[in-house]
Amino acid sequence: MFAQKLAQIASISTRSFATSNHVSIHFNVFNYSTKLLFYEIKRNAKVAVLGASGGIGQPMALLLKNNPLITELSLYDIAHTPGVAADLSHINSKARVTGYMGDAQLKDALKNCDVVVIPAGVPRKPGMTRDDLFNTNASIVQNLVDACALTCPKALIAIISNPVNSTVPIASEVYKKRGVYDPNRIFGVTTLDVVRANTFVAEAKALDPTTVNVPVIGGHAGITIIPLLSRTSPSVNFSADEVDRLSKRIQDAGTEVVKAKAGAGSATLSMAYAGARFANSLLEGLSGKKNVVECAYVKSDVTESAYFATPLVLGKNGLEKNHGLGQLSDYEQKAVKAALPELKASIKKGEEFVNKK
Ligand SMILES: NC(=O)c1ccc[n+]([C@@H]2O[C@H](COP(=O)([O-])OP(=O)(O)OC[C@H]3O[C@@H](n4cnc5c(N)ncnc54)[C@H](O)[C@@H]3O)[C@@H](O)[C@H]2O)c1
Repeated sequence: MFAQKLAQIASISTRSFATSNHVSIHFNVFNYSTKLLFYEIKRNAKVAVLGASGGIGQPMALLLKNNPLITELSLYDIAHTPGVAADLSHINSKARVTGYMGDAQLKDALKNCDVVVIPAGVPRKPGMTRDDLFNTNASIVQNLVDACALTCPKALIAIISNPVNSTVPIASEVYKKRGVYDPNRIFGVTTLDVVRANTFVAEAKALDPTTVNVPVIGGHAGITIIPLLSRTSPSVNFSADEVDRLSKRIQDAGTEVVKAKAGAGSATLSMAYAGARFANSLLEGLSGKKNVVECAYVKSDVTESAYFATPLVLGKNGLEKNHGLGQLSDYEQKAVKAALPELKASIKKGEEFVNKK
């Protein structure tokens, strides 16, 4: 009866606040002076995609258009956004789609955003490493996150643009310069490494890929990508040879796609899926859902590297709890050790790029 009454009040209050961005419902039930229930719901999120007309941007925007937690989907790019936005806006899902093009419209695109996902920048061609993209993408990310720091400093920022190992430190330095830095709100998206690991393990062990979870830690380039096969769920046994082969395939999976696309870019569709999954997890955390866990590359003190991907609990303020390294096999411990010099160098390169005189 009591529960029924609460549910009734909740539904009325929710509807009456439906236009507000942050909905707080405070019940003081039956005039009791004590607070019986405090229930906060984050809904009606505004999400921006910066680089929305690209190979990743377009399919990711399509997936986000279908996300019930989003009421406003803001699409920004330096080209083609009016067409992409007009096209997506005809889909009869809840999110209202708006398109913004060019620097002059960037601030409008970011106004009141809760989550900003950034796949802007050039992708790899065969023979290139992610670091080869630094010269072009570093300044693109710097300019975009600077606009975020000025316009929506509290938004959660999910950076897809490579090299992620450097672009996340770039974002942090930009936020520091603007005096609005909160390490819990800036994420490097490594979800594709988890998605790939889940798929490859499921294939190798004849499992349903939707039920497999392999945490992937470290960074997002070559040997800095460290799948924790020893912590695969459901628990699976691998021979030493299998661990080595699978780990290397997960590390090189991006290059596998770059080669197969033969000059036409890197992973876009699987990245769109992974980016939409990560954005959804950020939104679920904001909505107050408990135990939302994703691996992502963030400011970290779990290793000697100032940034490191580990499983994170996501909540109302972004990163709520870092689960750290957890238990690692000998193979994984060695992989962490091997990754640290490259990670530190990529971080330094990003930090110096912003702080150069
Ligand atoms: N994190 C990951 O796991 C992962 C996976 C795959 C690709 N990526 C990276 O994602 C990025 C995008 O890849 P893509 O295949 O979509 O490339 P793409 O070239 O197809 O699209 C990039 C888009 O960014 C836009 N753009 C360029 N400069 C911009 C600016 N200043 N502001 C706004 N938009 C701008 C372009 O107009 C284009 O529409 C690349 O850096 C790629 O390396 C990351």
